[in-house]
Amino acid sequence: MRIYRTADYQEMSRTAAMILAAQIQIKPDCVLGLATGSTPVGMYEELIRLHRAGHLDFSDVRSANLDEYRGLTRDHDQSYYYFMQKNLFEHVNIKPENTHIPDGSCPDAEAECARYEAVLAQLGGVDLQVLGLGHNGHIGFNEPADAFAKATHCVDLTASTIKANRRFFEREEDVPRQAYTMGIGTIMRAAKILLLVSGADKSDILREVVAGPVTPQVPASILQFHPDVTLIADEAALSRLHS
Ligand code: F6R
Repeated sequence: MRIYRTADYQEMSRTAAMILAAQIQIKPDCVLGLATGSTPVGMYEELIRLHRAGHLDFSDVRSANLDEYRGLTRDHDQSYYYFMQKNLFEHVNIKPENTHIPDGSCPDAEAECARYEAVLAQLGGVDLQVLGLGHNGHIGFNEPADAFAKATHCVDLTASTIKANRRFFEREEDVPRQAYTMGIGTIMRAAKILLLVSGADKSDILREVVAGPVTPQVPASILQFHPDVTLIADEAALSRLHS
């Protein structure tokens, strides 16, 4: 695992954007695995800036998102579909038909998960997967469990994740209880992985992910076995790793 230590969130975001930009320049029709949440927002802003300055062309780029809430339609302002439109897709020249996100409005979980795995296979796999890190060690919505999930599946969100995501909804009851997510096996098939972590509140879990035992109780710890992971984290997030 390569580790880039950055001074703060802004530098983390710029560094991550440069790596995505390099990936797009090396392979203009690459498949980017994308994440939502607070962590990648600054990176998306930087990618938009690079695009507007004429440095980055998304016209052949393809994308596949990690996850989506089950039960939210695309136009719901907390759906990950909506998030991606507002935070990246509307502002760059990516073709809508080249972007892929699990369909949260599909009630048939088994069918939707199988469809999404088929989409990923058709894309030929993810070249570069961006990940954020949950406070409980989750990646995508792969929550702590007794075993690593192989493929895209429907998960029950844990109480801690519901609480963490509460900030985006009016009331706690509005936070969806389930999500569709790429499995750990799906994520591990990406050729390269970029893990972004910011803030002192993630420092304990980041230490477990990087230096603790590999266990499905800390889903991101599996990344220790991936051959090409780059961690970009700020000082605050790394503060428990070198102590
Ligand atoms: C989002 C996702 C989640 C988040 C994680 C961290 O698509 O898959 O695993 O990356 O919950 O969220 P933030 O960045 O909001 O702290």
